[in-house]
Amino acid sequence: MEQLQQLRDQFLTYAQQRVTEKKPASLYDPVHYILQLGGKRLRPLLTLMSAQMYGSTIEKALDASLAVEVFHNFTLLHDDIMDDADLRRGKETVHVKWDVNTGILSGDAMLIMAYRLFNSYDPDTFYALNKVFSTTALEVCEGQQYDVDFETRDDVTIDEYIEMIRLKTSVLLGCALQMGAIIAGQNEEEQRKIYDYGIHLGIAFQLMDDYLDAFGDPATFGKEVGGDIRENKKTYLYLKSLEDEGCATELKEWFSMDYTTMNEDQIEIKKETVKVFFEESGGAQKTLNAIKEYTNLALADIESLNVDDASKKQLIDFSNYLMNRVS
Ligand code: IPE
Ligand code: IPE
Ligand code: MG
Ligand code: MG
Ligand code: MG
Repeated sequence: MEQLQQLRDQFLTYAQQRVTEKKPASLYDPVHYILQLGGKRLRPLLTLMSAQMYGSTIEKALDASLAVEVFHNFTLLHDDIMDDADLRRGKETVHVKWDVNTGILSGDAMLIMAYRLFNSYDPDTFYALNKVFSTTALEVCEGQQYDVDFETRDDVTIDEYIEMIRLKTSVLLGCALQMGAIIAGQNEEEQRKIYDYGIHLGIAFQLMDDYLDAFGDPATFGKEVGGDIRENKKTYLYLKSLEDEGCATELKEWFSMDYTTMNEDQIEIKKETVKVFFEESGGAQKTLNAIKEYTNLALADIESLNVDDASKKQLIDFSNYLMNRVS
C-alpha cells in the first residue's frame, strides 16, 4: 500500500506540471478544479502498475496514465450533468459551480487533451494506445447511453445490467491496464489477460459503487447518497430486490416516479423507503455476494499473468483495497 501511495504521489506531481493551459480561464479553470479535486486515481495507478510489472519504467507510462485520468474526469463532468448530480468528491460539481455549458465544453477539451497525451509515444506505441483507447472511449459512451435508457425501462435484465456496467466502467479499467502492457512491449495475448482482469475488477468496482450509492456514509462517500434511487437507476441492487415478490410491486411503483415532480421531502422519503426494500428483499446481500464473486474472478485472473509474485501480490492487495473502500 505504501508503494501505491508513492506511485500516486509521483502521478500527481507529474499531472500538475503537465496540464498547464490557462486561457481562457472559463474553459480551463474547471479542468484544473476537477483534476485537483482528489479522487482515488485508480485508473492511472493501474496503468503505472501494469507498465512497471511488465518491465517498463514508470516515466514512460506517465503520459498514458494521465490520459486515462483526464479522460475519466471528462466523463465525470458530463456524467454529473446527465445524472443531475450536485456533489463530486465532497465538493460542488462543475456544472453547479459554473454552469452546464461550461461542463460540456471543459469536458470536451479534456477529451481532446487526453488524446493529445499520446503524441509523446513512438509511432507503433502511439498506434496501439490510440487503438485500444478509442475503442474503449466509444464503449464508455455506449454504456452511458444504456444507463440512461434503463432509467425509463421497467424490464431491464441482470445480463443487460452487467453488460451496461462492463461498457460504462469496466472497459476503462481494462484499457488502463492494457496500456501499461503495451508500453512495456507485451504481446497481444498478455495484453488480453491483463485487460480481462480489469473487466472483472471493473464489474466488482461498479457493483460496489452502486451499493455505496445507497448505503455509503455521507461523511465519506463524497457524492449524493441515494442519487441512483432518486434517478430510478436500474442497478443490481434494484434488480435483485425485485426477485422478492413481496417487494417487487411497490418497488416498481417507487421507480416509476419522476423526481422532477417531487419536492425534497418526498425524495428523501423515497430514498429511505427504497433502502428498506433493498435490505429486506435480500437485494443488498445479493449485491455484496456478487461483488465478492467478481472480485474472486479478478483474483483468479491474476494467477495466470506472466509477472513475478511480488507484482501479483500488489494486484491482489489493490483488488482487495477496492472492495473495502468507503468512497
Ligand atoms: C466514479 O469513479 C465513476 C465510476 C465509474 C463509478 P471513481 O470512484 O474512480 O471516482 P474517483 O476518481 O475516485 O473520484
Ligand atoms: C459513471 O457511473 C460511469 C461514467 C462516468 C462513465 P455513475 O453515474 O454510477 O458514476 P458516479 O456514481 O456518478 O461516480
Ligand atoms: Mg453519476
Ligand atoms: Mg451515471
Ligand atoms: Mg454511481
